[in-house]
Amino acid sequence: MEIRKVGIIGCGTMGSGIAQVILQGGYEVFVREADQPLLEKGMERVKASFEKLLKKQAMTEEVIDVTLKRLTGTVSLDPLADCDLIIEAVFEDMQIKMDLFKELDTVCRKDAIFASNTSSLSVTQMAASTSRKERFLGMHFFQPAPVMPLVEVVKTISVAPEILQTALGFVKSLGKVPVLAKDQAGFIVNLLFTPFMLDAMRAASTGVASIEDIDKGMKLGLNHPMGPLMLADYIGLDLIFNAGNVMFEEYRESRYAPPPVLRKMVMMGYLGVKTKRGFYDWSDPKNPKPTDLNT
Ligand code: 3HC
Repeated sequence: MEIRKVGIIGCGTMGSGIAQVILQGGYEVFVREADQPLLEKGMERVKASFEKLLKKQAMTEEVIDVTLKRLTGTVSLDPLADCDLIIEAVFEDMQIKMDLFKELDTVCRKDAIFASNTSSLSVTQMAASTSRKERFLGMHFFQPAPVMPLVEVVKTISVAPEILQTALGFVKSLGKVPVLAKDQAGFIVNLLFTPFMLDAMRAASTGVASIEDIDKGMKLGLNHPMGPLMLADYIGLDLIFNAGNVMFEEYRESRYAPPPVLRKMVMMGYLGVKTKRGFYDWSDPKNPKPTDLNT
């Protein structure tokens, strides 16, 4: 099956990054947001990212203009009726996702492929809420989507082999590297990386070392681009809390259980970079300062 038109549901950090990547891959893109202000913000985010590429002389103004002509924003699902592929990138809430896919199922062409960008929720459960279980899979991008080369392609027990091949080919056509994972909470990367971040939080809260030294240790000792606590702030502490809970539910292993320090931060609305406070104070994003966990 040839993919030409791609619908993206949600134009937040992930959705706008995915939209940029797919536009750069030469496809026609429709982004849908819940309301006009959110849509305008999302479209601005995509445009601002292209402007950065212009400033860096990575793209010319002419090419950016032509590329952006392939982008349509909408608050309705109707313009997505003729899309070949739909990628959902909304808030990690199963009910919201299932309701959305049920509606899309009635709006979109019968042969359209549905994909979720979920990082830890069950793709199988979402697929089961539609009439296209064999045309439904996971397509998990990483943040920042325009930079990170990996996409996890998530295989359910119902997905048709040719749909999986189409998805793998599509990911490669974006210049990304696909890896194939079974639909189990966390897939590959979050399955292994979430316990690592949660352990770093446990180490910080029990005073093994300071937040800065834990991050320095993993950055300089293992050559990671960011330490685990800074990366947790960057991903969003609410997302990590939810992912940990989903994996703990599924595997019943204590390493997936969010530690008290994370629960308290999420309760307080300290969610990392997006709220300017998490394991670091991000008031000055260029100079984050570690939070005092004892206050
Ligand atoms: N959008 C587009 N481009 C971006 C960007 C963004 N949000 N952030 C950075 N970039 C680009 C920069 O423009 C720069 O491009 P250039 O090399 O062509 O000039 C390049 O990325 C490097 O950026 P910087 O020089 O500003 O900064 P760094 O070298 O420190 O890199 C980083 C920033 C790429 C974010 C790097 O720190 C990194 O790789 N961090 C780890 C990211 C990571 O692990 N992501 C996965 C998170 S887990 C996840 O997403 C799963 C989900 O389910 C939660």
